[in-house]
Amino acid sequence: MPSLEEELFPSTPGKFKIDRGHTMNRQFNRCFASTSTMFLWALFLIALTASYLSFQSFVDSGSRYFTASWGGIQWEKQIRSSAQIHRSKGMSVLVTGAAGFVGSHVSLALKKRGDGVVGIDNFNSYYDPSLKKARKSLLNSRGIFIVEGDINDARLLAKLFDIVAFTHVMHLAAQAGVRYAMENPHSYVHSNIGGLVTLLEACKTANPQPAVVWASSSSVYGLNEKVPFSESDRTDQPASLYAATKKAGEEITHTYNHIYGLSITGLRFFTVYGPFGRPDMAYFFFTRNILQGKPITLFSGQEPG
Ligand SMILES: NC(=O)c1ccc[n+]([C@@H]2O[C@H](COP(=O)([O-])OP(=O)(O)OC[C@H]3O[C@@H](n4cnc5c(N)ncnc54)[C@H](O)[C@@H]3O)[C@@H](O)[C@H]2O)c1
Repeated sequence: MPSLEEELFPSTPGKFKIDRGHTMNRQFNRCFASTSTMFLWALFLIALTASYLSFQSFVDSGSRYFTASWGGIQWEKQIRSSAQIHRSKGMSVLVTGAAGFVGSHVSLALKKRGDGVVGIDNFNSYYDPSLKKARKSLLNSRGIFIVEGDINDARLLAKLFDIVAFTHVMHLAAQAGVRYAMENPHSYVHSNIGGLVTLLEACKTANPQPAVVWASSSSVYGLNEKVPFSESDRTDQPASLYAATKKAGEEITHTYNHIYGLSITGLRFFTVYGPFGRPDMAYFFFTRNILQGKPITLFSGQEPG
C-alpha cells in the first residue's frame, strides 16, 4: 500500500495528475475528524453570531455617532463654554439659525453683552453655504459655538437642553424667501412648521422652560392694502407659501402659550438688511445691476422674506 507521501509526491512527477479534490477532501476530513474540532467550530460560530448581533444593537442605539456630526465629550465641552454667562443676571440663549444673516448678528450682540450663546444651524444650501461658514468662523472667533444640526432633530434638541439650562431661545431658523417656494415648497413646511413644532416641544419639556422669541414676518399682512400696517390688521390672506407658514407659526405658538404656558414673543420683521446680508434679497440684485449699468427689476407687492 503506497504511503501518504508517495500519493502526494509520485516518483515520476508529471506522469499523472494529483487528484486535488481527493486531497482536499482528505484535508477537510482531517479538520473535522474529531468531535472536539467540531465543537470548537460550533463555539466559534456562536461567538461570531453573538458579536455581530451586539455590534448591530450598538449601531442602532448609537447611530447618531455614525450618521451625525454631533455628540462626544469635546462637543459638550464646547457647548458649555459657549453658553457661559459673563454678566450678572445674564441670559443663556439658544439661537436657532445662528449661521444665518440675522442669527449671526443677534449671536454676536448677545455675546458682546455678556450673555451665553449657543447656536444651531443646518447650513442648508438655499443660498451659498460658504457665506454661512464664514459667519460661523466669525462667531467662533468670538467664542460662540454653532452646532451643526436640524431643528427637526428632537434628540439633538433634548441633548442641548440637557447640557445647558437655557433661559431663552431666539428662534430664527427658517426657510426664508418667497419665490423659492415654487421650486421647493416642502422646505417651508419642514423648517417653518415641522421644525417650529419640534423646537416648541423641546422648550415645553425643558426644565426650566426657556422664554422663546421668534421671527415671524411682515409677510403675514399679505393682501392687506391698508398702510402703514398695524399688529391689529388682518393676517388671514397670505400671498405666498412662505407667508402662510409664518402665519401658521403664529397660530402654533399661540397654542403652546395657551396650553403649556410657554412664554413666546413673535416679531414681524420687515426687510432686514446690513453687512453679511442674504444674497437672495433685492438690495443684492439692485447693487449688482447698478454696478453693471443694467436696469433694476421691480416686483410688485410687499413681500419681504
Ligand atoms: N431678512 C429679512 O428681511 C427677514 C424678514 C422677515 C422675516 N425674516 C425671518 O427672520 C429669520 C432670519 O432670517 P435671515 O434673513 O437671517 O435668513 P437666513 O436664511 O440668512 O437665516 C436662516 C438660517 O436658518 C437655517 N435653517 C433653516 N432651516 C433650518 C432647520 N430646519 N434647522 C436648522 N437651521 C435651519 C439656515 O441654514 C440659515 O442659516 C427667519 O425666520 C426669516 O423668515 C427675515
